[in-house]
Amino acid sequence: MEGVVRTIGVLTSGGDAPGMNACIRAVVRTALNKGYRVMGIRRGYAGLLKSDIIEMHANSVADIIHRGGTTLYSARCDEFLQTEYQDKAAEICKIFGIDGLVVIGGDGSFRGAQKLSQRGISVVGVPGTIDLDIVCSEYTIGFDSAVNVAVDAVARLRDTSASHERCSVVEVMGRHCGEIALWTGIATGADVIMIPEDEESQDFDHLIRVIMENRARGKNHNIIIVAEGVGNAYELAKRINEATGIESRATVLGHVQRGGCPTALDIKHASMMGNKAVEVLSRGDTNRVICVQNGRYVDMDIDEALAMTKQPSLDIWDANLQISTYK
Ligand code: ADP
Ligand code: F6P
Repeated sequence: MEGVVRTIGVLTSGGDAPGMNACIRAVVRTALNKGYRVMGIRRGYAGLLKSDIIEMHANSVADIIHRGGTTLYSARCDEFLQTEYQDKAAEICKIFGIDGLVVIGGDGSFRGAQKLSQRGISVVGVPGTIDLDIVCSEYTIGFDSAVNVAVDAVARLRDTSASHERCSVVEVMGRHCGEIALWTGIATGADVIMIPEDEESQDFDHLIRVIMENRARGKNHNIIIVAEGVGNAYELAKRINEATGIESRATVLGHVQRGGCPTALDIKHASMMGNKAVEVLSRGDTNRVICVQNGRYVDMDIDEALAMTKQPSLDIWDANLQISTYK
């Protein structure tokens, strides 16, 4: 056994994401192979506070690599924002002998992990969220699966939208982040993509102009992809209907984007990041997050990672505009 950690805990926290199971599997198998004891903490920080902890063996993670969701369950836990509960959680880790912890989740979950690191538990975060909003990493587990669900849904909507010569407004997830919208938009040939990070993308006059110009060129239907952080898709469809006279319908894809089997890309990243997380713990490091940078798996300090600010992929927005509007 390497390093100072003897028992590694693993939990999933925040919104679940396809590929989390593959990551849990990678953590458990890598840790066991390195000689650690492994504990699964169920229901994120909420479960930790209730000592909802089980020992994990190699076969505990058999047959889950391809499954969506998380077999450890996930939760959001408001109590954990308070220092007294953070103290309690660190105490519980110590009672169970958990001196290293892999937290698979989003930036909120990493803020929780920071608090445990400050209380003597070695922690490593793994970016697990469909939103692709962990600034330090080019990839977050679940993103590709979610985008593919959205692209498949828009293909279905395109059929009915074209048959009725309608305008389809499709709302995708992403919280404050527009990446799912951008990728879904360019992959479905959307007329317009609206994202929360860029006001220009939300310009209603521009939206109407693109719709009308595309209609004038003979396009008989429109697809508008709107990120959830922009506002209400139903309201937008109503406004488009009123402004253009084109029958418009809104579809909110919602949690369907978080379900289903992970894509190969998600499983690959999840496996690599889970494996790397254990390696970082075995080095004796703490307060680290695993990231993909320049296509490689690296780790960096959580405080530094959380201080970074995100630039949206406006190149996708620009390219889509040039592709979807034509002379
Ligand atoms: P995600 O991890 O997907 O970003 P949330 O933002 O909902 O999801 O965070 C998940 C959980 O992480 C929260 O329910 C809470 O228990 C914990 N958490 C979030 N922010 C903090 C914080 N500042 N301090 C301690 N724990 C936090
Ligand atoms: O962070 C993942 C995510 O699916 C966001 O895209 C979305 O805003 C949020 O979680 C929804 O959270 P909940 O599952 O709690 O409704």
